[in-house]
Amino acid sequence: MKTESPKHRGLWTTRLGFILAASGSAVGLGNIWKFPYIAGQNGGGAFVLVYLVCIFVVGLPIMLSEFVVGRNTQQSPVGAFQTLSPKTPWVGIGFIGVLAGFLILSFYGVVGGWTLAYIVKSISGSVDHFGSPKEAGDFFGQFIGHTWEIVFFHALFMVLCVLIVIKGVHGGIERACDVLMPTLVVILLVLMIRSLTLDGAMEGVRFYLYPDFSKLNPQVILIALGQAFFSLSLGMGCMITYGSYLSEKENLASSTIYVVIFDTLIALLMGMVIFPAVFAMNLEPTEGPSLVFIVLPAVFSQMPFGTLVSIIFFTLLAIAALTSGISLLEVVVAYFIDQRGWTRKQAVLIACTVIFLFGVPSGLSFGALGDFKIFGMTFFDNVDNITSNYLLPIGGMLTAIFVGWIWGPKAAKQEIEQNGVRFGWVGPWSFLVKYVTPVAVGFVFLAKFFK
Ligand code: PHE
Repeated sequence: MKTESPKHRGLWTTRLGFILAASGSAVGLGNIWKFPYIAGQNGGGAFVLVYLVCIFVVGLPIMLSEFVVGRNTQQSPVGAFQTLSPKTPWVGIGFIGVLAGFLILSFYGVVGGWTLAYIVKSISGSVDHFGSPKEAGDFFGQFIGHTWEIVFFHALFMVLCVLIVIKGVHGGIERACDVLMPTLVVILLVLMIRSLTLDGAMEGVRFYLYPDFSKLNPQVILIALGQAFFSLSLGMGCMITYGSYLSEKENLASSTIYVVIFDTLIALLMGMVIFPAVFAMNLEPTEGPSLVFIVLPAVFSQMPFGTLVSIIFFTLLAIAALTSGISLLEVVVAYFIDQRGWTRKQAVLIACTVIFLFGVPSGLSFGALGDFKIFGMTFFDNVDNITSNYLLPIGGMLTAIFVGWIWGPKAAKQEIEQNGVRFGWVGPWSFLVKYVTPVAVGFVFLAKFFK
């Protein structure tokens, strides 16, 4: 890839490569680390149900919209909206995306660092023989309070992102995803079986699958919606950017469905790993960001080949986090390359350094800066909250309005049907992007602010 003008962008080499890369972006810490802990904090079953509705009613149509905009314009978000609607404020959606990518990666890298640290700790045998879940909790608590260790692994994660993104789209991103995604599914299945066969596991299954609607309120619904965006990598132009590296032969609609289903399966599977174990071990489902890092080592401690399983699991988790991290970085980097004329190397190095520095206070939010609160939340929680619960839903809603009303479903349909692909779902899809998605997201915001 010599230049990255629209005509010479790196294209995914195979269809499966694209689906895996997009799934690589979608599947990550959002599914494996975040989904279980926020489902636990927000009441279990009812949250899961609302989440699924958000995924299929709001997320799926928006993902298709993003792919279409990306492939049609062959540009990253800012350029894409400029091309489709020159000299209008719609370009703002692109900037929301670049900002969101920057902010999300700043705390995402921190958690990515935790996973790297846990690979090392698994290899050295320190996270798979806890006598009790409490020990696992204390161990993790000590670890995340440890300034230099946290900063070191956070930096390491960012360096790995740099190394992949510097190589460009198919050189780095696509290849990394090919083998890893399928392996991840296998290991999750093994863990699920272990978890479900612990004594007392059924209570966790009940918590997870039985919806208790008294636990729902506007805030819970907003969080479910935000999580749907976060998990599917939507609302910030990430899928526009990935779509822009796509050739005309691909069937965008079916690719969307694969990615959405795969992402959702991984999250649901992860819930089945975590909640049975949480209840079997008398832990609290409301534990928060540390949940997975406490529950899993406790599970590893109770299974044959625990060390090995733990090494494999954290390695896969780190890789899943990396394939998402690089997609976040790619949005920021593509902006500087496409719009500002920077070289890829310059863009990657500068963006990554600044993002890392901004992420340091998030990394210290569980230790040195634990008492530093803004709006009653740590730095880490604030950045997470602003991006997941505001920037992404707003970006997604605006994208839907743009595609539904400004650019128009007709133009989108034409793009989807390039090269003889048939898209029979234009009717329902345009109904969703024109009416349902904007109204649903708008309604959730109103309900939250005027409750
Ligand atoms: N979807 C990723 C995950 O679930 C996170 C992400 C969000 C990636 C937004 C890109 C854009 O881990």
